[in-house]
Amino acid sequence: MDDPRGRLTKDGIRIHEAADFAGMHAAGRLAAEILDEVGALVEPGVTTEALDAYIEQRVAVAGAKSATIGYRGYQHASCISVNHVVCHGIPGPKVLKDGDILNIDVTVIVDGWYGDTSRMYVAGALPRKAERLIQVTHDALMLGTEAVRPGNTFGDIGHAIQSYVEAQRMSVVRDFCGHGLGRVFHAPPNVLHYGRPGTGPKLEEGMFFTIEPMVNLGRPETKVLADDWTAVTRDKSLSAQFEHSVGVTADGADIFTLSPAGRFWPTR
Ligand code: MF3
Ligand code: CO
Ligand code: CO
Repeated sequence: MDDPRGRLTKDGIRIHEAADFAGMHAAGRLAAEILDEVGALVEPGVTTEALDAYIEQRVAVAGAKSATIGYRGYQHASCISVNHVVCHGIPGPKVLKDGDILNIDVTVIVDGWYGDTSRMYVAGALPRKAERLIQVTHDALMLGTEAVRPGNTFGDIGHAIQSYVEAQRMSVVRDFCGHGLGRVFHAPPNVLHYGRPGTGPKLEEGMFFTIEPMVNLGRPETKVLADDWTAVTRDKSLSAQFEHSVGVTADGADIFTLSPAGRFWPTR
């Protein structure tokens, strides 16, 4: 889709104007509100398609659009990734059971701006190992956002995430990454969740992108199932993910997808 305002860096990364932050805040807020609300529905016995149905109607009630319905043939308003599913889990008749952990990922379009965010939820009681995984993944995302400021590089973000996760003896998924967004869903750059300090493109005020680390309790390798979407850990270990959409300001990150209810993690 055409995105005429602002300019592109030599790496093809769009530099947005100050006024564009308001559009991203509106989109990010709606996505975050929906994730706040859907948490009340997550419990043993519920299907992932029931959660998706709530999200789809909530997007419509807001007068917004789902970015995922119709995206490369995808037909749902969310991705719901349970236990060893790393990302892009397809909502369906699967019934949640006590102790299941799940990521719900929602992207909405409000007035042409994209808001993309995901969080972890638990059905029933949270197992101890899953709790550690989820906390580390959450903290890794927030450490990544703390590395966002003009003059730092994308490698600084990846390094902040990777060094923390690996010090906890968990692994960072390499096969999926964050992305630029704005008036498009996926734009340059690829935001890697691993890397070396000082490498990669320099961050500039006005860049909009997601940070969305996936962390595994076991090895980092993934594979995509025959449905062409569902990505799982090869070793079947548990996986977690959190995602924020952010903008670079003069001195840090403006997080567009903060939870209005303060329920990013724990989710309720
Ligand atoms: N929201 C996902 C992301 O973080 C993309 C989902 S694309 C879909 O980039 F088609 F699988 F929904
Ligand atoms: Co994303
Ligand atoms: Co997403």
